[in-house]
Amino acid sequence: MDKNNKLPPFFYEIFAPSLPRLGPGNAFSTNKALDTLLPRCSAQTERELAILDLGCGNGCQTIQLAQRLNAKILAVDNHQPFLDELARRAKENGVADKIQPHLADSRCLDLAAGSFDLIWCEGAIFTIGFRKALELFHDLLKPSGLAAFSEMAWLRPGAPQKCVDFITGPCPDLADISSQLSTIAETGFGVLDHFILDESAWWENFYQPLSERAKQLRKEHDQDAQKKELLDFTDLEIEMHREFSQYYGYVFYMIERQ
Ligand SMILES: C[S@@+](CC[C@H](N)C(=O)[O-])C[C@H]1O[C@@H](n2cnc3c(N)ncnc32)[C@H](O)[C@@H]1O
Repeated sequence: MDKNNKLPPFFYEIFAPSLPRLGPGNAFSTNKALDTLLPRCSAQTERELAILDLGCGNGCQTIQLAQRLNAKILAVDNHQPFLDELARRAKENGVADKIQPHLADSRCLDLAAGSFDLIWCEGAIFTIGFRKALELFHDLLKPSGLAAFSEMAWLRPGAPQKCVDFITGPCPDLADISSQLSTIAETGFGVLDHFILDESAWWENFYQPLSERAKQLRKEHDQDAQKKELLDFTDLEIEMHREFSQYYGYVFYMIERQ
């Protein structure tokens, strides 16, 4: 990763904008998180909500939020081709007027404190760091503002060493759910609810299409050792999850600024 959090160019060929989504998740879990928050938003539905979608990627969750809410959504990502695809999908779904794609690094945003009703962040909090991201949310949210985010967590102790080694390489600080809940409380939020994403959220719109894409690219680039290494890593990540999904997963948290 470079100083702008950008990965090698071939990474972005594997994780292409045309993939359905770029991390674990699905429409069901986005809707479930939103259903938890909606009663709290309803007092504000008379006016347009100011929403920040951090690490929006190609925008599957952004489109869903735009379809369900009276809102203006600032959709932030540090990779322009993802934002271009988000803009294309927004137009296709008739919600372009609600979404403003914004190329920026989430770790150094130039946004006014206390300016958002809701912050959404699916599968991208790790790009900022768990505690730092919560501190940022606290700063950017209005009093009693809401946030929803999904993040990886250890689901139970006793993971085999092969699994621990694989996960702690890219995610040395991966925590379990109870310590993530403690950090949420320490940074000034109340937890409204949380749930673990089901396995279909990993496979249907993420690992299955990603695996197909890696297979296709392997045919095109089999002679290139560096590219092959990245493709091998992608396949390994998928196989690790197939083998060890009972030990780690994604958790959706719905929180309120205190
Ligand atoms: C795992 S993907 C999740 C994307 C999308 N929310 C989804 O669930 O499909 C993480 C996203 O964060 C973006 N990203 C990584 N580092 C970033 C940074 N420093 N600032 C803004 N976006 C970043 C990536 O480009 C990518 O789109």
